[in-house]
Amino acid sequence: MDRIRIVGGNTLAGTIPISGAKNAALPLMIASLLTSQTLTLENVPHLADVEQLIRILGNHGVDYSVNGKRDHQNGNASGYSRTINFTARDIVDTTAPYELVSKMRASFWVIGPVLARMGEAKVSLPGGCAIGTRPVDLFIDGLQALGADIDVDTGYVVAKAKNRLRGNRYVFPKVSVGATHVLMMAASLARGETVLENAAREPEVVNLAECLIAMGAKIHGAGTSTITIEGVDELSGAQVRVIPDRIEAGTYAMAVAMTGGDVLLEGAEPDLLEAALDVIRNTGAEITPINAGIRVKRNGAGISPVDVTTEPFPGFPTDLQAQFMGLMTMAKGKSRITETIFENRFMHVQELARLGAHITLSGQTAIVEGVSKLKGAPVMATDLRASVSLVIAGLAAEGETTVNRVYHLDRGFERLEEKLSGCGAVIERISG
Ligand code: UD1
Repeated sequence: MDRIRIVGGNTLAGTIPISGAKNAALPLMIASLLTSQTLTLENVPHLADVEQLIRILGNHGVDYSVNGKRDHQNGNASGYSRTINFTARDIVDTTAPYELVSKMRASFWVIGPVLARMGEAKVSLPGGCAIGTRPVDLFIDGLQALGADIDVDTGYVVAKAKNRLRGNRYVFPKVSVGATHVLMMAASLARGETVLENAAREPEVVNLAECLIAMGAKIHGAGTSTITIEGVDELSGAQVRVIPDRIEAGTYAMAVAMTGGDVLLEGAEPDLLEAALDVIRNTGAEITPINAGIRVKRNGAGISPVDVTTEPFPGFPTDLQAQFMGLMTMAKGKSRITETIFENRFMHVQELARLGAHITLSGQTAIVEGVSKLKGAPVMATDLRASVSLVIAGLAAEGETTVNRVYHLDRGFERLEEKLSGCGAVIERISG
């Protein structure tokens, strides 16, 4: 199993290109199931989760080509974001089996488009990062509100809508990004109007709505908490660009805030992560939006402690909580970090402690007592965002840190070692 070896202590200086957002690319790829025509997606990041979803879509009959080539491995050996064409001419299988879905939670989302287009879908209950129970009750409730008959049977959700889904009003009892994606896709092909209230406002929802609109859907209000969808009989192909990854941008911004230095996050969009940028500014880093992206700079001054609570967009994202905790381990004082989205998202705490961090947990709040230095050590990645928090801490720690179970990082960070070493970090992948 690959490991990442880091020798900490260098400041970061240079340019880091920001990739297409994993969390936008996945629902956009799934939207290809809604039409028999070709959906072309630009700026798709080269990540393990994208490859896994390609396999899942392939099982349903989705064909794809990368920059004109059928084999993406040969077409894109270097691992840069690319343009991929997805064509679901016929849905050959309406079942998404356990072996495929258990590896990644977002693959459960195929239930929306497959059900809407085919009148039936059988999808295994999902897997993914072990960051809480992550149930699917909202998907089931919401699809039932659109007229689907749903049974949960031996680990599968079996959904049927023989006479097409019907538009309806649905109020999410809790904000869910995934359930908003799924209901928006399903309602696009339903009969009549659907109004989704308390919908997720994340930029990835807006990106999906733009894609569906380009495919011929009638959607208003994406990006607000009320989304209205007037169902249409069929959708067509389209060409859409995946938005830049706000979580990747925020992660590297925090790395610079921690190590010190001066880095341009090329292609990052400040509007997509205002809450996080404000927090990073308050820690003492200089953040300057410029045409080419976001410039992050910290020279000399210490890191100020800042309290943070995770919230749905536009609040501080849960996907940056672990990285921010990494940054706070070296702040000049005490900070409180409260997680409100997932109940079990503090698994990085014990690993950060191996590097010398002082963190105590009190329910859903972590109290971080900043230390003047961290010391490198072997650590274990437990989930996607937790693992990158260990990388950030390792960059600032004295001596050598090895991060084990790197496959978590490969799910969500494109060319991480290359991007960081390009800015002066000592970081390498050790195979085997
Ligand atoms: C997405 C993101 C993930 C991010 C999360 C919150 C992708 C691929 N993943 O995950 O990186 O951390 O949004 O911003 O885009 N819930 C229920 N019942 C449900 C569905 C969700 O109780 O049926 C709960 C979850 O357990 C969680 C909360 O709702 O506590 C929010 O989860 P949700 O927004 O659905 O997260 P994902 O879409 O899975």
